Order: sequence, then structure tokens, then C-alpha cells
Amino acid sequence: MNPVLAPAASASLIRREVAGLPGYDPGADPDEVAALSGAGRVIKLSNSEIPYGLSPAVAEAVRLGTADGFARYPDPTGKRLTEAIGSHLGVPAERIVLGNGSENILELLCQAVLDPGDLVVTQAPGFSLHEIFPRVMGARVEKVPATADFGYDAGAWRRALAAGPKLVFLANPCNPTGAILTSGELGRVLADTPESALLVLDEAYGEFARPDPEYPDALDALRALNRPWIVLRTFSKAYGLAGLRVGYGIASDADLVQALDRVRTPYNVNRPAQDAAVAALGDRAHLADTVRRTRLEIGRVTGLLRGAGLRVVPSSTNFLFIDTGRRSDEVARALHRAGIIVKAWREPGYETYIRASLSTPEDNDVFVRCLTETCAKDEL
Ligand SMILES: Cc1ncc(COP(=O)(O)O)c(C=O)c1O
Repeated sequence: MNPVLAPAASASLIRREVAGLPGYDPGADPDEVAALSGAGRVIKLSNSEIPYGLSPAVAEAVRLGTADGFARYPDPTGKRLTEAIGSHLGVPAERIVLGNGSENILELLCQAVLDPGDLVVTQAPGFSLHEIFPRVMGARVEKVPATADFGYDAGAWRRALAAGPKLVFLANPCNPTGAILTSGELGRVLADTPESALLVLDEAYGEFARPDPEYPDALDALRALNRPWIVLRTFSKAYGLAGLRVGYGIASDADLVQALDRVRTPYNVNRPAQDAAVAALGDRAHLADTVRRTRLEIGRVTGLLRGAGLRVVPSSTNFLFIDTGRRSDEVARALHRAGIIVKAWREPGYETYIRASLSTPEDNDVFVRCLTETCAKDEL
């Protein structure tokens, strides 16, 4: 008989780097919030999801794909999808890597590149996995704070990049602020990043920002450079396929993709996800409609919240970073009682901020009303 290990015995096996990790915060559980609030329907604004539903082409592709059941493994090379992405972007398919969400590629990059003690530079406030995955590998992480108005601090970045990082994670637009790095600012990052470092540009929300004239065409800027880089994108956000888990990276060279192939699990992107992504890529009208509606709503809700006296960072994404002026975890709990889930930000210096991704206009109006009422209360 196998004795069950006592928790103390397993705890002693865990690597020091892992034991000390903060862990990813996925936001509150909708079922628990529903029970707490008594609301029949929870308004979930915590995970940057899209409320507009699937492209009909995606639904059809997934339906057709189920015809022979799920008995067969997916294509481990994701050939059809990498070719579709490659021809859409004008990049050879061998420079495209697929991930179980783009977060999977962040993890693969850390596994393939980082030795214990290596330096990783990223931004603050920022996406927690840009810190967690490097720390799993025993790397040191330096976070470069944004300016007071959430812009790019050129001096601070230059100093951090001069310290010789092996990996640089930069999200453009930034999660959680929604701010973009302009073409000029990206140019400065490219000039300041040592050629020995792998530059990772995380464009998870890039589709929403592309209509901004200031938003750079990173592939265009990077194409000409003889240095290692990778641009990460995802089908989770503007394409609305978060539940299927599929993202991709466009790499400077096929060697980098082959290195990631060596560390990834062979069947990391499942079959419905591959089929859905090919179909989603082909439905440009659905994507354009999602982006147009999202940008309209971001502008409208930003105006409403600012009109109510709240500080809201200008956003080129589908979420808003809002200074509530009080402890964000208390605000989030008060919103839970009203059946609304947002993300309370916990990074040092930003503990009064919440991040709320927008939903339908009706749900957003409920959110604006509840948030402004909550922030106006003397006690929560
Ligand atoms: C900046 C950024 N990068 C990557 C991801 C990962 O997204 P996914 O794994 O769904 O592609 C997210 C998700 O929230 C994100 O905010």
C-alpha cells in the first residue's frame, strides 16, 4: 500500500524558488461571487474577456472538427495554423511557434533561455507571469516603474537595460495600464537593449491598439534588426477564444522556434483550438467589429468614470486601470457583494487601483454605477 505523504514531507521537496512564489491571481470565482451577492448573473470584468461571442466561422470549424470525435492527437507542429499565420503576416511558418495560450510561450522562453541568477527586465505595473516564470527558473527580475502618468520612463529603462539582462519582457499595450509604447519609444528600447538579450514584445492586446496612429508596427521595426527577438500574440483577447487556449509567437529566426520546440510538450495546442484559430484568422470582419465596439465602449466608460471624479489611465485595450482612491481589495469585495468581479491590483505602489475589462454597454453601466457609489461611501 502506498502511504499518503504528509504535507511536511512534500514541502521539503519543493525548490526554494517555487516555494517563495506569489502565485498567479486569476480573480474571484464567479460561483462564489454569485452565492455571496445573491445575483442571478455575475458581471465578470476580471479577465480581459470579450463579450461579443464567436465568429460564426469559428463555431462552424469547431463543429466540423468534432466529426471524427476526439480520439486522435492534434498536429504537434500545428502546420495549418502556423502556415495561416505566416501567410497572413508574410513570415515563414518555421519562424512561428504556437502555445497553449501565449502565456505558455512566456514559460517556454524562460525554460529555454534562463539559467539561475540571470537578469530579466520587465515593467511595473505589469503582467504577473512576466515575473513568475523567470523566478521559477531562479532568475532575478528587475521591474522598471512607469512614469507617474503611466508612460515610458526612458532613463529608467536605459539604466535597467544597461545592467545586461538575458531576457526583456515588454507588453505593448501594457497590462494592467492599457498604455501603449509609441513608435519612438519602441525605437529607444530597441537601441538600448543589448544584442545579447532576447527581446520579448508581448502584444496580447495589440489588435485593440492597432488603430492608434502612435502604436508601432513592431514586426516592421524588428524585421530589419540582426538580433534575437520574439513578438507574442494571442487568440484569447480580440479574437475572443480565451477558453480554447491558443497563442503564437513570431520569432527572429527558426533556431529560436526549434529551441522552444525542444522544451514544449508536443501536443500543447489542442485540435479544436487549432481549427478555431485558423477560422478566426480568416474572419477579419468579426475581428474589426470587436475592435471597433471595444474602442467605443472604452472611450464611453472612461468618460463616465472621469466625469464621476475617478482617475482612469487612457487605455488602448479592452480594460481600464482605475484609481479608486481607497484600498482596491476592499473596493473589489464591495463590488462582489453587487455581483461584479474586477481585479484588485496588489503590486506595491498601485494598491488603490483596480483593473476592469469591459463587457456589454448594459453591464458596463451597472459597473460604473456600482463603482461610483462604492467609491463615494464613507465606509466599505
Ligand atoms: C500581457 C499578457 N500577456 C499574455 C497573456 C496570456 O494570454 P493567453 O495565455 O490567454 O494568450 C495575458 C493574459 O492576460 C496578458 O495580459
